[in-house]
Amino acid sequence: MLAAEVAPTLTQIKEARRPMRSTCPMHTISADEAQQAATQLALLARDSGLTSLTLAGKHLVPVVQGGMGVGVSAGGLAGAVAACGAVGTISSVDLRRHHPDLMAQTAHLEGAQAKAAINAANLEALGREIARARAVAGGRGLVAVNVMRAVSEYENYVRHSLACGVDAVVVGAGLPLDLPELAKDHPNTALIPILSDARGVQLVVRKWEKKGRLPDAVVIEHPRLAGGHLGAAKVADLGDRRFDFDVVLPEVLAFFRAAGIEGRIPLIAAGGVSSLQDIRQLQSLGASAVQLGTAFAVTRECDAHPEFKRILASARPEDIVNFTSVAGLPARAVRTPWLDKYLRLEPRLQKHAHVKSHCNMWFDCLAQCGLRDGKGTWGQFCIDKSLGHAMEGHTDKGLFFRGAGTLPFGSQIRPVEDLMRWLLGGVMPAGATEAAA
Ligand SMILES: Cc1cc2nc3c(=O)[nH]c(=O)nc-3n(C[C@H](O)[C@H](O)[C@H](O)COP(=O)(O)O)c2cc1C
Repeated sequence: MLAAEVAPTLTQIKEARRPMRSTCPMHTISADEAQQAATQLALLARDSGLTSLTLAGKHLVPVVQGGMGVGVSAGGLAGAVAACGAVGTISSVDLRRHHPDLMAQTAHLEGAQAKAAINAANLEALGREIARARAVAGGRGLVAVNVMRAVSEYENYVRHSLACGVDAVVVGAGLPLDLPELAKDHPNTALIPILSDARGVQLVVRKWEKKGRLPDAVVIEHPRLAGGHLGAAKVADLGDRRFDFDVVLPEVLAFFRAAGIEGRIPLIAAGGVSSLQDIRQLQSLGASAVQLGTAFAVTRECDAHPEFKRILASARPEDIVNFTSVAGLPARAVRTPWLDKYLRLEPRLQKHAHVKSHCNMWFDCLAQCGLRDGKGTWGQFCIDKSLGHAMEGHTDKGLFFRGAGTLPFGSQIRPVEDLMRWLLGGVMPAGATEAAA
């Protein structure tokens, strides 16, 4: 048995019982009240004319909280969203950052011993966060784990998530062609690739069909709108018409029809969604649900530092910038002074790019890294460190991923439940400004 396949540890079980750090009202109310709130949200969605999302045998409100690394969507946020009867997603990357005991064991390590110890700490942290999310969710909704195909520990993150009993594994930043094999002993766990165009969907479905499994849903993420790493080959392609929802959704549905799998794979549209009207529009194009990132990143329950939320929520459209990340993919973030300086230095850094003797952080978070591998057209910064700084609220050195869209409550930080009520019923909470209404 691989180390990654062990059952949840005693610490993970204790973690699930520990009082929550988040301020979600659902954490302090009784199980009955939480259930009532989730039921109300489902009724709100129905009364708004939305259809529910059926996934892993559950009927859910048609909203998915996208995975956000590093540590932005951990167990607190994912659990709070699932508690509302929706899909909450934990990002699996470098979760030890949320666990002082694991950081104390690994932060100072260097050399050959560092990598194995850091990877083990991250798997332990992932198990703890899954347990935490499930405890907060109280059996409602669905708890998913997001794993980037581009990270070197992709396989172990997937195996450990499955062993910990997550409801769904969601894979982006690359084609997860091997996911059916990795999950062959877990037929009831939903497998969900994140793709951006019809060609990518066809490729994955055709390959998976040969392995006897279909995706349980597909996230269609729009590279011109979403935050974080984007599903286009280069920055110049982000605005390509083939990514527009009114092109890609009908194309994918036509492919499903031609392939005889119509109605079997729900589509989840991601990027720039901020209102009930957006959800209605996307459902009319054939999407079953929507996925949001940035709007959930600025909720009270989001696991990142308040300064992280402030930077995202206060960014104006002209503050948001596209660039090439160290993973070689286009990315979108807030142009903070740190990012602005990096982008000014980038041509010089790229010119002098060279292969390094070892990864900055010793654990090689990415399978291929522009900085470590000396790739002269890729980003030249340490992504784990920069995203970690952002999540911890260091505005002077963090990289703040953000989508391009406006936020429902402008610069306000509000609870997940307020966001859900706005999305599903158009209910603007008392005191909120109608920023995007
Ligand atoms: C801070 C941040 C971090 C993100 N990290 C990831 C990630 O680790 N993996 C991933 O698949 N998507 C990631 N995303 C994308 C989101 O899951 C989501 O699909 C996208 O942001 C949706 O667009 P929106 O922000 O306009 O709602 C990230 C987005 C943000 C804003």
